[in-house]
Amino acid sequence: MIKNICCIGAGYVGGPSMAVIALNCPEIMVNVVDINSQKIDEWNSSDFSKLPVFEPGLDNIIKKCRGKNLFFSTEVEKNISNAEVIFISVNTPTKTVGVGKGYASDLKWIESSARQISKFAKNHTIVIEKSTLPVRTAETIKNILDSSEEIADFGIKKVSKTFSIISNPEFLAEGSAINDLQNPDRVLIGGEDKKSIELVSNIYKNWVDPRKIITTNLWSSELSKLVANAFLAQRISSINSISALCELTGANINEVAIAIGTDKRIGNKFLNAGPGFGGSCFKKDILNLVYLCQYYGLPEVADYWEQIVKINSWQQERISSLVIKNLFGTLSNKKLAVLGFSFKANTNDTRESPSISIAKNLIKEGAELNFYDPKVNKEDILKEFQRKENEEKINVCETALIAAKGTDAVIVLTEWEQFNNLDWEYIFKLMRKPAWVFDSRNYLNTDQLKKIGFNVWSLGQS
Ligand code: NAD
Ligand code: UGA
Repeated sequence: MIKNICCIGAGYVGGPSMAVIALNCPEIMVNVVDINSQKIDEWNSSDFSKLPVFEPGLDNIIKKCRGKNLFFSTEVEKNISNAEVIFISVNTPTKTVGVGKGYASDLKWIESSARQISKFAKNHTIVIEKSTLPVRTAETIKNILDSSEEIADFGIKKVSKTFSIISNPEFLAEGSAINDLQNPDRVLIGGEDKKSIELVSNIYKNWVDPRKIITTNLWSSELSKLVANAFLAQRISSINSISALCELTGANINEVAIAIGTDKRIGNKFLNAGPGFGGSCFKKDILNLVYLCQYYGLPEVADYWEQIVKINSWQQERISSLVIKNLFGTLSNKKLAVLGFSFKANTNDTRESPSISIAKNLIKEGAELNFYDPKVNKEDILKEFQRKENEEKINVCETALIAAKGTDAVIVLTEWEQFNNLDWEYIFKLMRKPAWVFDSRNYLNTDQLKKIGFNVWSLGQS
């Protein structure tokens, strides 16, 4: 039985996923390590509102497990040496330079993790790919690990190091990470070495129904993660493309989504039209898939998947243009409130948030913007625009009401529940007239807003 786990990378995946293992496996020691010492300090903060990742339910698990069988530290070397199982959960963003720039995943953090494992691991170690990786990355990792020339020294006897590589991709979605980890649809474990697959399965069997544990070969597991994200993103681009057609034909996107989603073969999940998908993964994973298809000589397949990303950018451009058009074709001398900056509700993550690209388009047209988000820090908003506090044209506000004061339009870009419960009558009084609401998530009570006197634009409705 596994007794000691190390996870390299204390980010949105490493932190929550290891917390849930620690909660369900009290007899396993879980050490999460990161090179970012500020992040580690935040994980160790006594103020639980300062944890670096906001996820409903995460703080309670940290309270229960931290200091007992869950530890966060920068001691990479020591924790690698002590571990029987090492999860690699580091970032794999799109390459910005060199071969594959703009498409391929940058594996430099994976490579450096593998080199560290190769150097410091002792005895036999199971190395798990938790990060999302291009298919056949396990081969590269294996090469690095096998090139380790060192031999572990146990007193008189010298023992060779050995490694097994397992692919165990993560399917959690931010905002519902704890529930997704506690009750996963499936756990995917790919590998060649049966004994290692069994040992890793046994960790999950502490709380996951064994029927939900799928085992495959390494390459199927690596590829399935990219394909799952591509299929999910494809649904969003499909429904978003139809939202534009609804606006021109009198059809209503909510009604269309219900009408098609009741067909069991289509299903009703992931059919909410919106300002385009954000988050750190959908775009990068599809671009990575596109790169792989090109690499393996399948340009038609590459083009097919790239279209999902193109529609996503188009949806964001489209929404920006609609705002400008409705505000008499110009935003100079106009102030707008942007409600929501995270890429979806219930997370503080802003990576690839549609709010960023839409806000940038509005600023280009001369608008002054007041931002409000219930969970995103002021610094994280300002950083996206490389502006300092109180600099002209960008204000980050304490409440939605303050953000709306004196504006011509309120644009809702993240579906935070609290935006539905705002005092919209009061907001109307605070705004310059004609007062507009742009609901890019299509979830506000349009009839009520119109009754108050707002001009309302709702995505996918005419
Ligand atoms: P993240 O940026 O939040 O965290 C990665 C962490 O790894 C960072 O804190 C970084 O400092 C650390 N790191 C990098 N190199 C290191 C090294 N050599 N030693 C120690 N620490 C190191 O990223 P994330 O969102 O947690 O994503 C991690 C991986 O999981 C990515 O491949 C991503 O595609 C995948 N994934 C993410 C999600 C999600 O919801 N965010 C879901 C499923 C899968
Ligand atoms: C997504 C996947 O859902 C996870 O299974 C996967 O593990 C993860 O990516 C990953 O690999 O990183 P995440 O990006 O956290 O999770 O969140 P989603 O709920 O998938 O939302 C992604 C984006 O799509 C958000 O901007 C969201 O607002 C948007 N979305 C989602 C819609 O516009 N409509 C929908 O119906 C659903």
